[in-house]
Amino acid sequence: MRVGVLTGGGDCPGLNAVIRAVVRKGIKDHGYEFVGFRDGWRGPLEGDTMTLDVEAVRGILPRGGTILGSSRTNLMKIEGGVERVKDNMAGLGVDALVAIGGEDTLGVARQLHDRGVNVVGVPKTIDNDLNATDYTFGFDTAVNIAMEAIDRLHTTAESHHRALVVEVMGRHAGWIALHSGMAAGANVILVPERPFDMDEVVKHVESRFRTQYAPIIVVAEGAHPKEGQMELATGEKDAFGHVRLGGIGQRLADEIEHRTGKEARSVVLGHVQRGGTPTAFDRVLATRLGLHAIDAVADGAFGKMVGLRGTDIVRVDLAEATDTLKTVPAGRYQEAETFFG
Ligand code: F6P
Repeated sequence: MRVGVLTGGGDCPGLNAVIRAVVRKGIKDHGYEFVGFRDGWRGPLEGDTMTLDVEAVRGILPRGGTILGSSRTNLMKIEGGVERVKDNMAGLGVDALVAIGGEDTLGVARQLHDRGVNVVGVPKTIDNDLNATDYTFGFDTAVNIAMEAIDRLHTTAESHHRALVVEVMGRHAGWIALHSGMAAGANVILVPERPFDMDEVVKHVESRFRTQYAPIIVVAEGAHPKEGQMELATGEKDAFGHVRLGGIGQRLADEIEHRTGKEARSVVLGHVQRGGTPTAFDRVLATRLGLHAIDAVADGAFGKMVGLRGTDIVRVDLAEATDTLKTVPAGRYQEAETFFG
């Protein structure tokens, strides 16, 4: 059997660990051959491939990014895209695909499976917002990077008696903000799931200043104020219709400075959260997902995604994984609120 492998969407630490596990186990236990498709769905669409053998995956376990490259190509928006993928797969003798990606990439995988393509999905995103898996790899790395940054920002904020607003990634879900803010003792955490009240934010900031500590506000890029409280800029959209975010941190810092009369600065962590070497947790999770994904291919379990449930790797329907996003539940946010102010 020949198996194609691709990585789609925003990259994430641990992708290479999955690729390595799929290839190593696929060759050793199942006698498969592999074809690497470049840049997400663009690879099978254009028949753009690279060699993927044991040699190609040597030394990549600790490396961030993806040796296959990635893109946000939306196959479903390209006329005749599905047929082109099928033709290219047939021409290359590829019988099945392992698609490693988030909601968008796996959403396409699900539709391809519905149209007769053999595909198994592996969940990836630093945002941790994919349903049907307890955690996605990349998230732990992103949280640790953000936590270290916030630890550092505490000391400089205190020296200058300033408020520091830290903007982290998280378009629709505030998992990175919640976990990094909790781990690093943020003064306030703002998430997309819960529109914030600017008066309350200012109250927390002022109370922290009174205790001689400098306030640190952790805000997810997709967080927004209650209606009518602040104007926000809107950006351009990608092929999956997602608006490019960024800017809430600076808006908050301006508003805090204006309302409290104290200095405020904003820091956008941005793609630093997605780059570099994965944590041990992410390396192990990514490796296990890769091992189980190639076993799913061997069992003919197409249309499935491998996911983490407790400490077990399980198979779930791609439909279940892509129907809804896993957002921060109210109870988890309430836990963090104990430490606000
Ligand atoms: O989906 C992962 C993610 O990192 C989001 O948190 C973020 O909004 C987005 O990707 C940014 O994507 P890019 O800058 O690569 O288009």
